[in-house]
Amino acid sequence: MHGGNPENIANTGGLRFEVDGEIATITLDRPEKRNAQTFALWSELTRIGENLPEQVRVVVVRGEGPSFSAGIDLAMFGTLTAGTNLDDQIAEFQRGFLWLRRPEIVSVAAVQGHAIGAGFQLALSCDLRIVTDDVKFCMKEPALGLVPDLTGTKPLVELVGLAKAIDICLTARVVQAEEALRIGLAERVVSREDLAQAVKEKAAELLAVNRDAAIATKRLLQGARGRSLEEQSAAERAEQVLRIRAMSSGS
Ligand code: ACO
Repeated sequence: MHGGNPENIANTGGLRFEVDGEIATITLDRPEKRNAQTFALWSELTRIGENLPEQVRVVVVRGEGPSFSAGIDLAMFGTLTAGTNLDDQIAEFQRGFLWLRRPEIVSVAAVQGHAIGAGFQLALSCDLRIVTDDVKFCMKEPALGLVPDLTGTKPLVELVGLAKAIDICLTARVVQAEEALRIGLAERVVSREDLAQAVKEKAAELLAVNRDAAIATKRLLQGARGRSLEEQSAAERAEQVLRIRAMSSGS
Protein backbone atom coordinates (compact mmCIF):
# COMPACT_ATOMS: atom_id res chain seq x y z
CA MET A 1 0.00 0.00 0.00
CA HIS A 2 2.99 2.30 0.24
CA GLY A 3 4.62 1.69 -3.10
CA GLY A 4 7.35 3.69 -4.74
CA ASN A 5 11.04 3.94 -4.14
CA PRO A 6 12.01 4.60 -0.56
CA GLU A 7 14.10 7.77 -0.40
CA ASN A 8 17.36 7.04 1.28
CA ILE A 9 18.02 10.02 3.53
CA ALA A 10 21.07 8.95 5.44
CA ASN A 11 23.55 6.18 5.85
CA THR A 12 25.81 7.08 8.72
CA GLY A 13 26.66 6.05 12.26
CA GLY A 14 26.04 2.42 11.34
CA LEU A 15 22.41 3.31 10.61
CA ARG A 16 20.26 3.20 7.52
CA PHE A 17 17.22 5.43 7.34
CA GLU A 18 14.51 5.02 4.76
CA VAL A 19 11.15 6.65 4.30
CA ASP A 20 8.40 4.98 2.33
CA GLY A 21 5.23 7.05 2.46
CA GLU A 22 4.01 7.21 6.05
CA ILE A 23 6.46 4.57 7.30
CA ALA A 24 10.08 5.32 8.25
CA THR A 25 12.51 2.50 8.90
CA ILE A 26 15.66 2.87 10.95
CA THR A 27 18.02 -0.07 10.49
CA LEU A 28 21.02 -0.73 12.72
CA ASP A 29 23.43 -1.83 10.05
CA ARG A 30 26.63 -3.19 11.57
CA PRO A 31 25.74 -6.88 11.68
CA GLU A 32 29.40 -7.96 11.79
CA LYS A 33 29.60 -6.18 15.17
CA ARG A 34 26.11 -7.31 16.17
CA ASN A 35 24.89 -3.73 15.73
CA ALA A 36 26.93 -2.44 18.65
CA GLN A 37 25.98 1.19 19.27
CA THR A 38 28.46 4.07 19.11
CA PHE A 39 28.10 7.70 20.20
CA ALA A 40 27.92 8.54 16.48
CA LEU A 41 24.93 6.24 16.13
CA TRP A 42 23.12 8.02 18.96
CA SER A 43 23.84 11.43 17.37
CA GLU A 44 22.49 10.11 14.11
CA LEU A 45 19.34 8.87 15.86
CA THR A 46 18.83 12.37 17.29
CA ARG A 47 19.34 13.90 13.86
CA ILE A 48 16.79 11.53 12.32
CA GLY A 49 14.27 12.46 15.01
CA GLU A 50 14.84 16.16 14.41
CA ASN A 51 14.38 15.80 10.66
CA LEU A 52 11.63 13.23 10.54
CA PRO A 53 9.41 14.01 7.54
CA GLU A 54 6.05 15.36 8.61
CA GLN A 55 4.06 12.65 6.84
CA VAL A 56 5.68 9.83 8.83
CA ARG A 57 3.27 8.10 11.23
CA VAL A 58 5.04 4.81 11.95
CA VAL A 59 8.74 4.42 12.75
CA VAL A 60 10.16 0.91 12.61
CA VAL A 61 13.45 0.26 14.41
CA ARG A 62 15.19 -2.94 13.31
CA GLY A 63 18.63 -4.52 13.20
CA GLU A 64 20.45 -6.23 10.36
CA GLY A 65 21.92 -9.70 10.94
CA PRO A 66 21.78 -12.23 13.76
CA SER A 67 21.13 -9.76 16.60
CA PHE A 68 19.04 -6.63 17.05
CA SER A 69 21.87 -5.04 19.04
CA ALA A 70 24.67 -6.19 21.35
CA GLY A 71 24.44 -2.87 23.21
CA ILE A 72 27.02 -0.16 23.54
CA ASP A 73 30.13 -0.67 21.43
CA LEU A 74 32.58 -1.89 24.02
CA ALA A 75 35.22 0.34 22.38
CA MET A 76 33.22 3.31 23.78
CA PHE A 77 33.65 2.00 27.31
CA GLY A 78 36.03 4.11 29.35
CA THR A 79 36.00 7.00 26.86
CA LEU A 80 33.64 8.96 29.11
CA THR A 81 35.65 10.14 32.07
CA ALA A 82 34.70 11.84 35.29
CA GLY A 83 36.49 15.06 34.31
CA THR A 84 34.04 15.84 31.51
CA ASN A 85 30.52 17.19 31.83
CA LEU A 86 28.97 13.76 32.02
CA ASP A 87 25.44 14.87 32.75
CA ASP A 88 25.30 16.96 29.57
CA GLN A 89 26.86 14.19 27.51
CA ILE A 90 24.43 11.56 28.72
CA ALA A 91 21.52 13.96 28.15
CA GLU A 92 22.75 14.30 24.57
CA PHE A 93 22.80 10.52 24.11
CA GLN A 94 19.32 10.21 25.59
CA ARG A 95 17.91 12.62 23.00
CA GLY A 96 18.43 9.93 20.38
CA PHE A 97 16.05 7.65 22.27
CA LEU A 98 13.46 10.09 23.65
CA TRP A 99 11.86 11.22 20.40
CA LEU A 100 10.63 7.73 19.62
CA ARG A 101 7.75 8.34 22.10
CA ARG A 102 6.39 11.40 20.32
CA PRO A 103 2.58 11.31 20.07
CA GLU A 104 2.76 12.09 16.34
CA ILE A 105 4.29 8.67 15.61
CA VAL A 106 4.02 5.08 16.76
CA SER A 107 7.41 3.41 17.01
CA VAL A 108 7.73 -0.33 16.56
CA ALA A 109 10.88 -2.28 17.43
CA ALA A 110 11.47 -5.46 15.43
CA VAL A 111 13.75 -7.48 17.67
CA GLN A 112 15.60 -10.69 16.81
CA GLY A 113 18.38 -12.44 18.68
CA HIS A 114 20.21 -10.42 21.31
CA ALA A 115 19.00 -7.07 22.62
CA ILE A 116 21.58 -6.32 25.30
CA GLY A 117 22.02 -3.17 27.37
CA ALA A 118 21.62 -0.21 25.02
CA GLY A 119 19.98 -2.63 22.59
CA PHE A 120 17.34 -3.57 25.17
CA GLN A 121 16.85 0.13 25.97
CA LEU A 122 16.44 1.04 22.31
CA ALA A 123 13.70 -1.59 22.06
CA LEU A 124 12.15 -0.15 25.24
CA SER A 125 12.16 3.34 23.70
CA CYS A 126 9.67 2.16 21.13
CA ASP A 127 5.94 2.05 21.75
CA LEU A 128 5.60 -1.58 20.63
CA ARG A 129 7.92 -4.57 20.33
CA ILE A 130 7.47 -7.44 17.91
CA VAL A 131 10.06 -10.12 18.63
CA THR A 132 11.31 -13.40 17.23
CA ASP A 133 11.13 -16.70 19.07
CA ASP A 134 14.91 -16.57 19.66
CA VAL A 135 14.93 -13.11 21.24
CA LYS A 136 17.20 -12.55 24.24
CA PHE A 137 16.70 -9.34 26.20
CA CYS A 138 19.36 -8.59 28.81
CA MET A 139 19.88 -5.44 30.91
CA LYS A 140 23.57 -5.96 31.41
CA GLU A 141 24.55 -2.54 32.75
CA PRO A 142 24.39 -3.34 36.50
CA ALA A 143 26.63 -6.38 35.92
CA LEU A 144 29.17 -3.95 34.40
CA GLY A 145 28.96 -1.51 37.32
CA LEU A 146 26.65 0.93 35.53
CA VAL A 147 22.96 1.82 35.50
CA PRO A 148 20.74 1.68 32.44
CA ASP A 149 20.70 5.38 31.42
CA LEU A 150 19.40 5.42 27.87
CA THR A 151 15.80 6.09 28.95
CA GLY A 152 14.92 2.42 29.40
CA THR A 153 14.13 2.21 33.12
CA LYS A 154 10.77 4.00 33.05
CA PRO A 155 9.21 2.01 30.20
CA LEU A 156 10.55 -1.21 31.72
CA VAL A 157 8.85 -0.53 35.07
CA GLU A 158 5.66 0.60 33.32
CA LEU A 159 5.56 -2.51 31.15
CA VAL A 160 6.47 -5.24 33.61
CA GLY A 161 6.05 -3.69 37.10
CA LEU A 162 8.64 -2.81 39.72
CA ALA A 163 9.34 -6.30 41.07
CA LYS A 164 9.94 -7.83 37.65
CA ALA A 165 12.04 -4.83 36.56
CA ILE A 166 14.21 -5.22 39.67
CA ASP A 167 14.54 -8.94 38.96
CA ILE A 168 15.52 -8.38 35.32
CA CYS A 169 17.98 -5.53 35.91
CA LEU A 170 19.61 -6.58 39.18
CA THR A 171 20.32 -10.10 38.00
CA ALA A 172 21.17 -9.05 34.41
CA ARG A 173 19.46 -12.28 33.39
CA VAL A 174 18.19 -13.08 29.92
CA VAL A 175 14.49 -12.70 29.16
CA GLN A 176 13.42 -14.95 26.32
CA ALA A 177 10.42 -14.82 24.00
CA GLU A 178 7.82 -16.72 26.00
CA GLU A 179 8.46 -14.64 29.12
CA ALA A 180 8.70 -11.40 27.15
CA LEU A 181 5.22 -12.01 25.76
CA ARG A 182 3.81 -13.07 29.13
CA ILE A 183 5.11 -10.06 31.08
CA GLY A 184 4.15 -7.50 28.44
CA LEU A 185 7.58 -6.72 26.98
CA ALA A 186 6.50 -8.01 23.58
CA GLU A 187 3.22 -7.64 21.71
CA ARG A 188 3.83 -10.61 19.50
CA VAL A 189 6.34 -13.43 18.95
CA VAL A 190 7.01 -14.69 15.44
CA SER A 191 9.66 -16.70 13.63
CA ARG A 192 12.58 -14.84 12.03
CA GLU A 193 11.14 -15.46 8.58
CA ASP A 194 7.87 -13.83 9.61
CA LEU A 195 9.30 -10.77 11.41
CA ALA A 196 9.26 -8.34 8.49
CA GLN A 197 5.72 -9.35 7.52
CA ALA A 198 4.47 -9.07 11.11
CA VAL A 199 5.87 -5.53 11.36
CA LYS A 200 4.34 -4.61 8.02
CA GLU A 201 0.94 -5.86 9.17
CA LYS A 202 1.17 -3.88 12.41
CA ALA A 203 2.11 -0.74 10.49
CA ALA A 204 -0.87 -1.22 8.17
CA GLU A 205 -3.20 -1.62 11.18
CA LEU A 206 -1.82 1.54 12.76
CA LEU A 207 -2.14 3.52 9.54
CA ALA A 208 -5.77 2.48 9.09
CA VAL A 209 -6.81 4.69 12.03
CA ASN A 210 -7.51 8.43 11.67
CA ARG A 211 -4.23 10.27 12.16
CA ASP A 212 -5.37 13.15 14.36
CA ALA A 213 -7.42 10.83 16.58
CA ALA A 214 -4.41 8.54 16.91
CA ILE A 215 -2.16 11.42 17.98
CA ALA A 216 -4.68 12.73 20.51
CA THR A 217 -5.30 9.23 21.89
CA LYS A 218 -1.59 8.49 22.29
CA ARG A 219 -1.22 11.79 24.15
CA LEU A 220 -4.08 10.78 26.45
CA LEU A 221 -2.70 7.31 27.10
CA GLN A 222 0.80 8.63 27.77
CA GLY A 223 -0.52 11.10 30.32
CA ALA A 224 -2.84 8.64 32.07
CA ARG A 225 -0.37 7.31 34.62
CA GLY A 226 0.51 10.76 35.94
CA ARG A 227 -3.12 11.90 36.37
CA SER A 228 -5.94 11.12 38.77
CA LEU A 229 -9.14 9.62 37.31
CA GLU A 230 -10.75 13.04 37.52
CA GLU A 231 -7.86 14.74 35.75
CA GLN A 232 -7.77 12.04 33.10
CA SER A 233 -11.52 12.38 32.51
CA ALA A 234 -11.02 16.11 32.04
CA ALA A 235 -8.17 15.44 29.62
CA GLU A 236 -10.43 13.07 27.64
CA ARG A 237 -13.07 15.78 27.41
CA ALA A 238 -10.58 18.38 26.29
CA GLU A 239 -9.21 16.17 23.53
CA GLN A 240 -12.71 15.14 22.45
CA VAL A 241 -13.90 18.73 22.20
CA LEU A 242 -11.01 19.38 19.83
CA ARG A 243 -11.83 16.27 17.79
CA ILE A 244 -15.54 17.11 17.50
CA ARG A 245 -14.77 20.69 16.54
CA ALA A 246 -12.27 19.54 13.92
CA MET A 247 -14.71 16.99 12.51
CA SER A 248 -17.59 19.47 12.34
CA SER A 249 -15.39 21.95 10.50
CA GLY A 250 -14.53 19.14 8.05
CA SER A 251 -10.81 18.80 8.80
N1 ACO B 1 30.79 -3.92 21.16
C1 ACO B 1 31.72 -4.09 20.22
N2 ACO B 1 31.83 -5.21 19.48
C2 ACO B 1 30.93 -6.18 19.71
C3 ACO B 1 29.92 -6.07 20.68
C4 ACO B 1 29.86 -4.86 21.43
N3 ACO B 1 28.92 -4.65 22.35
N4 ACO B 1 29.19 -7.20 20.68
C5 ACO B 1 29.72 -8.00 19.74
N5 ACO B 1 30.78 -7.40 19.15
C6 ACO B 1 31.65 -7.91 18.10
C7 ACO B 1 32.54 -9.02 18.60
O1 ACO B 1 33.69 -8.49 19.23
C8 ACO B 1 32.86 -9.74 17.32
O2 ACO B 1 33.81 -8.99 16.60
P1 ACO B 1 35.03 -9.73 15.82
O3 ACO B 1 34.34 -10.59 14.79
O4 ACO B 1 35.80 -8.60 15.26
O5 ACO B 1 35.75 -10.55 16.87
C9 ACO B 1 31.54 -9.64 16.55
O6 ACO B 1 30.85 -8.53 17.10
C10 ACO B 1 30.65 -10.85 16.69
O7 ACO B 1 30.50 -11.12 18.05
P2 ACO B 1 30.37 -12.62 18.62
O8 ACO B 1 30.50 -12.55 20.11
O9 ACO B 1 31.30 -13.52 17.87
O10 ACO B 1 28.87 -12.95 18.16
P3 ACO B 1 27.83 -13.95 18.81
O11 ACO B 1 26.64 -13.91 17.90
O12 ACO B 1 28.47 -15.25 19.12
O13 ACO B 1 27.43 -13.30 20.23
C11 ACO B 1 26.68 -11.53 21.68
C12 ACO B 1 26.66 -12.14 20.27
C13 ACO B 1 26.03 -12.50 22.68
C14 ACO B 1 25.85 -10.26 21.57
C15 ACO B 1 28.12 -11.25 22.15
O14 ACO B 1 28.83 -10.64 21.09
C16 ACO B 1 28.22 -10.35 23.36
O15 ACO B 1 27.98 -10.81 24.48
N6 ACO B 1 28.56 -9.05 23.16
C17 ACO B 1 28.81 -8.11 24.23
C18 ACO B 1 27.49 -7.63 24.84
C19 ACO B 1 27.70 -6.55 25.87
O16 ACO B 1 28.27 -6.78 26.92
N7 ACO B 1 27.22 -5.32 25.58
C20 ACO B 1 27.30 -4.20 26.45
C21 ACO B 1 26.03 -4.12 27.29
S1 ACO B 1 25.97 -2.72 28.36
C22 ACO B 1 25.36 -1.39 27.46
O17 ACO B 1 24.92 -1.54 26.35
C23 ACO B 1 25.34 0.01 28.09
